[in-house]
Amino acid sequence: MAVFRLDEIIRGSGRYTRREVIGLVNEGRVTVDGAVAAAISQRCDTAADVRVDGIPVVMEPPVCLMLHKPAGYVTATVSGREPPVTDLLPPCWRHLFPVGRLDLDAEGLLLLTNDGALCHRIILPGSGIRKEYYIEVTGAFRPDTRERFRAGITVDNGLTCRPADIEIAPDGRSARVWVTEGRRHQVKRMAAAAGARVRYLKRLAIGGLRLDDSLAPGEFRPLTEDELAAIFR
Ligand code: URA
Repeated sequence: MAVFRLDEIIRGSGRYTRREVIGLVNEGRVTVDGAVAAAISQRCDTAADVRVDGIPVVMEPPVCLMLHKPAGYVTATVSGREPPVTDLLPPCWRHLFPVGRLDLDAEGLLLLTNDGALCHRIILPGSGIRKEYYIEVTGAFRPDTRERFRAGITVDNGLTCRPADIEIAPDGRSARVWVTEGRRHQVKRMAAAAGARVRYLKRLAIGGLRLDDSLAPGEFRPLTEDELAAIFR
């Protein structure tokens, strides 16, 4: 039987935002098998009787969207100074949460889902899922960049990245990069360690799932079953 965090189950109903879920639990309005829930992180299996104000929570069917994220949107579900990517979705899908993140200035393939288990399978460090990026840079890559990427390049704070790959265009101004990690500003930091500064970054693929070329920046659509499976291929 699958086990989820309580907040994932309640958000999976599609009726509450993350902030609302925290409020509901703090106000003692959520019960699990008859007992008032202690924390949003409480673990519950799918058979648990979760209720809000006495009304059973019914998880909506899982959905996963592919969004062509434009620059200028934050990978988040709540508004800050910049608009969150969920502003690009219709109200019925604004409760979906992003799978991993793309920087504010980055573009490309971003998944949004209500399926916590799917999200974990993709972003867990051990998943080994390869992400492909296209970058344009200023400055010049050092001649040994590919070898260093393949060996595991060491970045600014002494962190050694997992082996990755890079294919630098003949003019040295752009490249394709493949990484299996998702650390903060990972690709930018790897490029910087190799002598180049990323001025444009676009994610092209997650595992075997490629960004649909027909989606303009800001457009989205649900994944097909085949595309979902392709992520893990
Ligand atoms: N690496 C980065 O540096 N930025 C992103 O948005 C994604 C990967």
